[in-house]
Amino acid sequence: MESEVTPLGAEHVRDLMALEGKCFAYHWTQEQFLLGLERSAFQVLGIYRKGILAGYIAFSIIEDEMEILNLAVHPDFRRQGLGEKLLKESFRVCNENNVRKSFLDVKVSNEPALGLYRKFGYKKIGVRKKYYPDTREDALLFRYDFT
Ligand SMILES: CC(C)(COP(=O)(O)OP(=O)(O)OC[C@H]1O[C@@H](n2cnc3c(N)ncnc32)[C@H](O)[C@@H]1OP(=O)(O)O)[C@@H](O)C(=O)NCCC(=O)NCCS
Repeated sequence: MESEVTPLGAEHVRDLMALEGKCFAYHWTQEQFLLGLERSAFQVLGIYRKGILAGYIAFSIIEDEMEILNLAVHPDFRRQGLGEKLLKESFRVCNENNVRKSFLDVKVSNEPALGLYRKFGYKKIGVRKKYYPDTREDALLFRYDFT
């Protein structure tokens, strides 16, 4: 079924770049995606709608820690539960791999992302001042503990 979350690989990088261009002014390059995927530095899950990549999540797992590196949903498909679906599927992968905790950073002004992570039970654990090179905004650090 088209709306199901699916693992993405090097063959999907063109779709990922198109989605990144829609979602972020300052985004990952094709090389970053390809290198990361080839070296298994991170995994990517995606969701297709109407034949286009509508959302993706990139995350790394090192021992019992998972870090969310990026999460984006195409503007035309927001507020339809896709972000939630992607995050849920990444949690399922975490449970399969005995992951105990998850971390991420998010811009202080990013209300949609903050809402999503809070809904999942992430708790704020710190602030990195002027962390982002594009806007010099603070990063909020969040943590989730799997039980
Ligand atoms: C953050 C993002 C991935 C959310 O994706 P989405 O598919 O629209 O989110 P969902 O429909 O699954 O919403 C799930 C929850 O997130 C929160 N949320 C989503 N959009 C929101 C908004 N505009 N304002 C406030 N909360 C919001 C809500 O808690 C929502 O639950 P609810 O519908 O019960 O209120 C999407 O807005 C996006 O791609 N933003 C640009 C890229 C980005 O900033 N990524 C995050 C990097 S850390």
